[in-house]
Amino acid sequence: MFTVPAMRFVGYRRLSVTTEQSTQWWRDAVIYQVYPRSFADADGDGVGDLPGITARLDHLAGLGVDAVWLSPFYPSPQADAGYDVANYRDVDPLFGRLADFDALVARAHALGIRVIVDLVPNHTSDEHPWFQAALAAGPGSPERDRYCFRDEPNDWESIFGGSAWTQVEDGQWYLHLFDVRQPDLNWNNPEVRAEFVEILRFWLDRGVDGFRVDVSHGLIKTWEPSDKVDAPPPAIPDGPEPMWDQDGVHEIYRSWRKVVDSYPGERILVAEAWVDPIERMARYVRPDEMHQAFNFAYLLASWSADAIREVVDSSLAVCQAVGAPTTWVLSNHDVVRHTSRFGYADGTLPRNGIAAADPQPDEALGLRRGRAASMLMLALPGAAYVYQGEEFGLPEHSTLPDDVRQDPTWVRSGHTVVGRDGCRVPIPWAAGGPSYGFGPDSRSWLPQPPAWDRYALDRQRGVEGSTYELYRAALRLRREYALGAGTLTWWPEAGPDAVAFRNGGVVVVANLGAEPVALPAGARVLLASGDLDVDGRVPTDTAVWALV
Ligand code: NOJ
Repeated sequence: MFTVPAMRFVGYRRLSVTTEQSTQWWRDAVIYQVYPRSFADADGDGVGDLPGITARLDHLAGLGVDAVWLSPFYPSPQADAGYDVANYRDVDPLFGRLADFDALVARAHALGIRVIVDLVPNHTSDEHPWFQAALAAGPGSPERDRYCFRDEPNDWESIFGGSAWTQVEDGQWYLHLFDVRQPDLNWNNPEVRAEFVEILRFWLDRGVDGFRVDVSHGLIKTWEPSDKVDAPPPAIPDGPEPMWDQDGVHEIYRSWRKVVDSYPGERILVAEAWVDPIERMARYVRPDEMHQAFNFAYLLASWSADAIREVVDSSLAVCQAVGAPTTWVLSNHDVVRHTSRFGYADGTLPRNGIAAADPQPDEALGLRRGRAASMLMLALPGAAYVYQGEEFGLPEHSTLPDDVRQDPTWVRSGHTVVGRDGCRVPIPWAAGGPSYGFGPDSRSWLPQPPAWDRYALDRQRGVEGSTYELYRAALRLRREYALGAGTLTWWPEAGPDAVAFRNGGVVVVANLGAEPVALPAGARVLLASGDLDVDGRVPTDTAVWALV
């Protein structure tokens, strides 16, 4: 078990991580997503790596985050950027070695930052030894039973496009809800269940503070209506589709909760479950299941005061009903960055990439709204997720040439859906440098746009009003006023076009309307995403935190 010196001080933050604390830290944490291949490249091969992350952890401590979530770094043929895992207990040489992981965890803990890793249980890589053994062993074998082999395919489609079934040489078909190189595991097989408990333990023993559980809603499939004959009818019916959000997934998370709870230090489970309606999301965070679930309903809300108020209300209500914290998230490695989503004046919300030939987002509008949206999110009670680069106000790379695209969506959709590469471009640390300081030279696994100097960290650090300093101040004030642990009371006086509320002694006003909004009399501004007007009112697409 790791031990770290308690009570270290870096700037304004009291920093300590010990395995003995019982703080429910995750209830109001700010968790920063690192997408390892695009964060920082220490060895200069054009792909980010674990030593690169470790070297930049000071940046995250300075920003004031509580934890990092690392997208997969395990051995993988990288058919889906590492979400196709060939070995769950090691580090891909592309990203380093296990010793580099240990060094990363040690440094993060010394800085008071917890480390959450990604667990990918729905499918393995086709290069995983189990799948290779299944191919070799043939129909009817125990090896095949670890996956979803059938004599006939059904009509299910892959999320990335095309059929979800691929035929192997002996005529059988295997299921892959994602890429052809990501065969789905059979979670009715006890060996699969036992293996993942051991994988959890492997990383828990190395000191990780939690797991983000990929495709949490997909593990159990209902093949035939008759599968359910003997089961009592569920209180809330299963998800509408037989491969998603089936009731059977929950007993898996109950068993995992017992495993993580058996370790000291409040290790957590976080559900990636794209389920609808939001009540179903809350089922993943019942008291004996996971700790948090990503709030994708919030991420999907358009830039509309009504839509945002509604999703905030429903999110708080469904999570409170099960005693879980709400989470808030605006961007991640699977969606168009929010600064670009909100850059469409007509409210278009591109979900799956922007191509060079598509109508382009208005960069200035998107940044203005994006900053307001971030301030709004960071003032809400609950936990918040920040995706690498959003603290720089980074937009989507919306003009990537088609011939560099790597997302399997692009190929599997027959080049009709551009996919997620635009939000995965290596991030800029230094203006003017080759690869903007991502690596030691100009190599970068996806090309960076020509005009990213202005987003680079070194152009923003210490610059009043920069997006980086806005985030830093927001995280500091969020902590100081305990906004994450607070309670929201709407402030309707701000009018229908504002999202306005009180959280403790802080009033938060985000103006999404055309007319300026006045703050309460005597309010003292703590932080603003843009300038107020000459009368001290909050202009369009601006958010303000004020003391009342
Ligand atoms: C969700 C991950 O976030 C995404 O990047 C991946 O492609 C799918 N799950 C499949 O693992």
